[in-house]
Amino acid sequence: MRVVEVTAYGGPEVLRMARRPEPEAGERPGMVRVRLKAAGVNQADLRIRAGRYADVVGPLKPPFVLGTDFAGKLIDPVPGLPAGTRVAGFVPWFEELNGEGTYAEVIWSAPEWLAPIPDDVDYTVAASVPLAAATAQRGLDELALPQGATLLVSGASGVVGRFAVQFAAAAGLRVVAIAHEGDQHELKVLGAEHSVLRGPHDEIIARVAEAVPERVDAVFDGAFHGAPLLPAVKDDGAFVALVPDRAPAAERNIRVVTVLGRPDAARLKETLEKVAARELITRVSDVMPLEEVAEAHRRAEAGHRPGRIVLMI
Ligand SMILES: NC(=O)c1ccc[n+]([C@@H]2O[C@H](COP(=O)([O-])OP(=O)(O)OC[C@H]3O[C@@H](n4cnc5c(N)ncnc54)[C@H](OP(=O)(O)O)[C@@H]3O)[C@@H](O)[C@H]2O)c1
Repeated sequence: MRVVEVTAYGGPEVLRMARRPEPEAGERPGMVRVRLKAAGVNQADLRIRAGRYADVVGPLKPPFVLGTDFAGKLIDPVPGLPAGTRVAGFVPWFEELNGEGTYAEVIWSAPEWLAPIPDDVDYTVAASVPLAAATAQRGLDELALPQGATLLVSGASGVVGRFAVQFAAAAGLRVVAIAHEGDQHELKVLGAEHSVLRGPHDEIIARVAEAVPERVDAVFDGAFHGAPLLPAVKDDGAFVALVPDRAPAAERNIRVVTVLGRPDAARLKETLEKVAARELITRVSDVMPLEEVAEAHRRAEAGHRPGRIVLMI
């Protein structure tokens, strides 16, 4: 089968198409095969490829296959999902650490990673949802804020940030979104009460103070600002970081937690149904063939993509 391998740590040019044996039935007890149609390109893929997580990845050395999010068709049945069901999910790449990601034609999946894709959600949209939604949900779970509490979401123009805004608003939180110029209107539709423009940190803090003079109860830091956002948070507030090296040292009794998206099939099923019902909005910015993965990484690295870049397989 066709896969994309990271041949050595480096720039997008280290990504190469390769052939690996297709998984065969029964080779991995408890796991099932999925024939992929689409795979998401996540920011973590870029950092892994560049060697920035070499210490976390530990003994796993190139060549390996990147990729977490996927959408495709089940080859082997699982209880409740017959063979041929359209499914989406994500491989918890950092937990598996076997270098068998989703930039591949066929993957092994645990049944508990899989949710059915509703009929009117296409593969590219489905592949943009799993990790981002799970991460936003886990962050909000960790915060456990009461209705009416204020939440500052950075990177609200991004895929994870957008989900955080929507889930938070649906839970009755008052959301302040740090967003790109031009995205304010959409973020309002998604549920943000205020949008403040991104920019230098002192300006962000001043804009948040204008919107919420008493300071916010918590931060969901989807853009990895880290410590510079702490002045926006009340004493005894909370802060969700998405990578440990951008988690600020706690001060003024602010609780700092780092969250990792974990697969949760039941929740993903619910989320995909909400996407189908247009109750949740996700965005795909680019759909590209697997063979153009290096260009997909270049685009993701350059930033300013208004949604997830998805590889068609
Ligand atoms: N912990 C986990 O399990 C987990 C799971 C998924 C994602 N993540 C991480 O969470 C982050 C967000 O993921 P994503 O998929 O939403 O990525 P994304 O779609 O690229 O969104 C990131 C957003 O943050 C914005 N941003 C970046 N730097 C900024 C800055 N200095 N000031 C203001 N905005 C800034 C980006 O804007 P521009 O691109 O225009 O600069 C973009 O809108 C990524 O770094 C990703 O690796 C963690």
